[in-house]
Amino acid sequence: MNSADFTSDAFIAKMNSYLKSHLSPSRYEHSASAAETCRRLAEEFGFDEKLAFFTGLVHDIAREYSKEELVKWASQDGMPVRDIDLDSPVLLHGRAGAMVLKKEFGIADKEVLDALSAHTTGTSGMKTLAKILFVADYIEPKRKHITPEFLAGLEGLDLDGMVYAVLMGTLNHLASKGKSVAPEALELKKELEHAE
Ligand SMILES: [Fe+2]
Ligand SMILES: [Fe+2]
Repeated sequence: MNSADFTSDAFIAKMNSYLKSHLSPSRYEHSASAAETCRRLAEEFGFDEKLAFFTGLVHDIAREYSKEELVKWASQDGMPVRDIDLDSPVLLHGRAGAMVLKKEFGIADKEVLDALSAHTTGTSGMKTLAKILFVADYIEPKRKHITPEFLAGLEGLDLDGMVYAVLMGTLNHLASKGKSVAPEALELKKELEHAE
C-alpha cells in the first residue's frame, strides 16, 4: 500500500476503529492527540501533513501488547532483541508496532516504519518524520508532564532543537528515577550535539 492509500480518509477511519478497540481509552486519546500534534509540526516544518497525522495516530499500536507479543513482533524486523530490551520490553513497542503495520496492514513505507521503531528511545540517523513523531509523542496536549515553561522553551527552535529538548527532558527524568538509558538515546544525543 502506498501513502496515498493509507493516508486516505477511508483508511484513517479503519485505523481509528481498530485502535479504539485495541487500546485503552486514554491511550487512544493520546494517539489521536499525537496525530494532531504531528500534523501541526509537519505544517510548521514543511512536511507531508497527512503522512505525519497517520504516523502519529498509529504510533502506539503495539503499546499494550504483552511481553511475549512484543518480543514476537519486534524480533521480525531483523534486528536483535537484546538483554536490555528484555529488561524493559515495553521499549519494544515501537519496533513491534512497525512490524504490525507492515505485516497486518501491508504498509511498507520505510519512513513510517522507521519513525515507529525509533519513537520509544530516539536513535541516530532519524529522518524528518521520525523527529516529528518523537517530539509530538512527548508534547501532545494530553501529556500531563509538560509544563508551560517547557513548551515556551521550544518556541523558535528548529526541529533538531526540539528533538534535543525532548530527549534531554526524557534523560533528566530517567536520571531522577535512577533508570538506565537506552544506547540509542545516547547515540541521538551525541549526533545532535555534534551537529550544532
Ligand atoms: Fe509509544
Ligand atoms: Fe505515544
